[in-house]
Amino acid sequence: MSLIQWDDDRYSTSVEKIDDQHKRLFELLNDLYEAMEEGHAEEEVGDTLRELERYTEYHFGDEESMMHDCGYAQDCSSCFRDHQDMHENFAAKVSELREKHENGEYITMEVLEFARDWLDSHIAGEDQDQGYGEYVRQELDAYQYQ
Ligand SMILES: [Fe+2]
Ligand SMILES: [Fe+2]
Repeated sequence: MSLIQWDDDRYSTSVEKIDDQHKRLFELLNDLYEAMEEGHAEEEVGDTLRELERYTEYHFGDEESMMHDCGYAQDCSSCFRDHQDMHENFAAKVSELREKHENGEYITMEVLEFARDWLDSHIAGEDQDQGYGEYVRQELDAYQYQ
């Protein structure tokens, strides 16, 4: 059983690098779900949470650099700032979750469902990841035909 499944029609930005990172985030969330659902050792849940936290921060950083490189951040600075805020809030929630777990607090499935819903709407959202994905794609196309 998995919590979230990749679907090209819904999630793909047509930029391989971005899609690969999003797929990895789904995989980590599913690993966490599975570890909790099947009652795996707390240590494994903790390891997965730390990796999810690390990878979330890495992906958001990479995405924000790409937004600069493709011109999206310059063309719509408010879109960029909003996007950055969303990243910051979500990354803070993941860190909070990791801390709670480290302090021995129980993590509920609702929290994982929240993370799933957030990733779903953020990655599929036209004015979120699909929006700058479009810019990156145009840039890649222009580069290809030079
Ligand atoms: Fe994003
Ligand atoms: Fe993303």
